[in-house]
Order: sequence, then C-alpha cells, then structure tokens
Amino acid sequence: MTDTKTRDKWDRAASFFDVSAAWGTEKRWAPSKKNLFSWMDGTILFMAAGTGLDFPCFPPGQRVTAIDISPKMLERARVRAQQYPGHIELMEMDARAMTFPDGCFDQVYTSCTFCSVPDPVSGLKEIRRVLKPGGMLRMFEHTGSRIFPFNLMLHLMTPMSRIVGPELNRDTLGNLDRAGFAIQRVENHFLDVVRSIHAQAPTH
Ligand SMILES: C[S@@+](CC[C@H](N)C(=O)[O-])C[C@H]1O[C@@H](n2cnc3c(N)ncnc32)[C@H](O)[C@@H]1O
Repeated sequence: MTDTKTRDKWDRAASFFDVSAAWGTEKRWAPSKKNLFSWMDGTILFMAAGTGLDFPCFPPGQRVTAIDISPKMLERARVRAQQYPGHIELMEMDARAMTFPDGCFDQVYTSCTFCSVPDPVSGLKEIRRVLKPGGMLRMFEHTGSRIFPFNLMLHLMTPMSRIVGPELNRDTLGNLDRAGFAIQRVENHFLDVVRSIHAQAPTH
C-alpha cells in the first residue's frame, strides 16, 4: 500500500527543496559526498534521489538506479540525470518496499535519506535484502551530534523540521546495527551534524 502521507509531504517539499538545500548546505557538503561516492563500482542503487542535487557528485561513467517516493522530486531529478556523464535510471519506489529481487546490487548509497524515511530499520533491512551478500552500504546522513550545544540544538529543531522535511537527530548507527549491518568506518563532518558511514551486509 502506498504511503501517501510521506509521498505528499515530499511532493510539497519539491518546489522549495533546491532553494533550501542547494545554495548553502549542498556546496559545503559536496567535497565529502564526492569522496564517499568515489567508491561507486558495479551495480549501484541510490536511495532517495530527491531533485538530483547529488548527481554532480557521482564519479563519471557509472550506471546507477535511483529511487524516490516522490514523483515531484523525480520530475526535477530527471533534468539532472540527463546531464550526468553516465547513466541514471529513475524509479518511483518506497525504500521500505522495493520491487527489486534479492541480492541484485553490489553497492547501495544514501544521501540524507534515513533522516527522512519513516521506520528507518525496515528501510535498512530492505537494503540488506537487495544487496549481494557482503555488499557495501555507504551513507551520507544526519545523525545528530555528540557535541554540546549542537546535539541539543538538533533535538530542539527536529519536531519542526520533520513537519516539512527530515529529522536531524536519527540514531542511524544504532539502526544499522538493528538491521544487521556491520559498521566498518564512520567519518564525522561539520561537528558530527552529518556523517559518512561505510557498512557491510552479512556475507551469508
Ligand atoms: C532530505 S531529501 C534528500 C534528497 C537528496 N538525496 C539530497 O540530498 O539532495 C529526502 C528524500 O527522501 C525521499 N524519501 C522519503 N521517504 C522515502 C521513502 N520511504 N522511500 C523513498 N524515498 C523517500 C524524499 O522524497 C526526499 O526526496
């Protein structure tokens, strides 16, 4: 059954998303994203394409399947997908109920995805299902902060931010553990407000 509440929320966000993200945040985060996405290789799934702001950070020449729950986000992403020097196939899909067969991707990437997907553990378990055994999940995510007063600030901002967009204080490392991933490496950026996470699916 389609989660229309989540789809409609992000459809509404699509019209102002580029303005709120592109000019400040995206420019600051681009070097860390480029670094994380430089690992792209093989069959790749990209979770939650949004308006495609991440695509210029992909290394050239990849074949990427990118999903999002919001058709309005995907409409905007289509233009950026066409500009990418490689191939990006866009599909409307819920991260928690993907139509891909088991074990069909070598790698999965996320970018500010699991601050947004409701019930993140079920989404992460679904990624585990579509990854080949031992496949890598690489994430660029809001995960709160360990540093005061930023941790307090993010907790106070989240009840507001979740109405129009993401939750800024998700326990994504704990959720990865709950979904059965082995965390291999974590890089903290911008006082921990965002992190790059490298996690491996079980080998069997
Ligand atoms: C904060 S935006 C990030 C977009 C893009 N990755 C970026 O960083 O510019 C979160 C995205 O997650 C998508 N999303 C939220 N819940 C989802 C779900 N259950 N399945 C697939 N996509 C979802 C939204 O439509 C939105 O495009």
